[in-house]
Amino acid sequence: MRYLTFALGKGRLANKTMELFEKIGITCQEMKDPATRKLIFVNEELKLKFFLSKGPDVPTYVEYGAADIGVVGRDTILEEGRRMYEVLDLGYGKCRMCVCGPESARELLNHQELIRVATKYPHIAKDYFYNRKHQTVEIIKLNGSIELAPIVGLSEVIVDIVETGSTLRENGLQVLEEVCPLSARMVVNQVSMKMENERIGKLISDLKAVL
Ligand code: PRP
Repeated sequence: MRYLTFALGKGRLANKTMELFEKIGITCQEMKDPATRKLIFVNEELKLKFFLSKGPDVPTYVEYGAADIGVVGRDTILEEGRRMYEVLDLGYGKCRMCVCGPESARELLNHQELIRVATKYPHIAKDYFYNRKHQTVEIIKLNGSIELAPIVGLSEVIVDIVETGSTLRENGLQVLEEVCPLSARMVVNQVSMKMENERIGKLISDLKAVL
């Protein structure tokens, strides 16, 4: 039996995923050591391997088959646009992709003005404004702390993830439009889905039973 390899987005999502996997009898003891600098973890008994990567790299590993299976946020899946199967909504990591800004920017959105949009997700923002709203905008890519952009005058609005809404509130911004709901998803390499259909199919049905 060959190893099935999982790519997990580092951080909270990976921890949640391992908690979920434990419920269906998939464990990985060596991953629990907080001091470890190891990058890849093995469960010899079940012939499984796990590795942690930056979230946006998960779809890359899965498309190329370096990982058979990935767990990543829907935001990353939409942004990366990789060829792979999205097989399961895992239900956690729930949040929303939104257009946000000061209340004063609402009018600019309503009047289809040529505004600047700062975001970590240029593809999602472009698709939303160009294909869904038919509004021409200038998209500015940032790498984090996106809420700063309208405060310091870099852009009129942002496209960003809203979870509790507290970052917006504490910075005098609000949700102006909703782009789409988000949550953690399981993705599968297209060839692995055929070659390892039985094992992956069982994994999906076991997960469905506990979700
Ligand atoms: C995300 C997102 C918002 C915040 C939303 O940022 O970009 O800034 O969380 O959460 P809230 O609605 O619960 O306040 P993250 O902390 O991942 O860091 P980043 O700003 O570097 O992207």
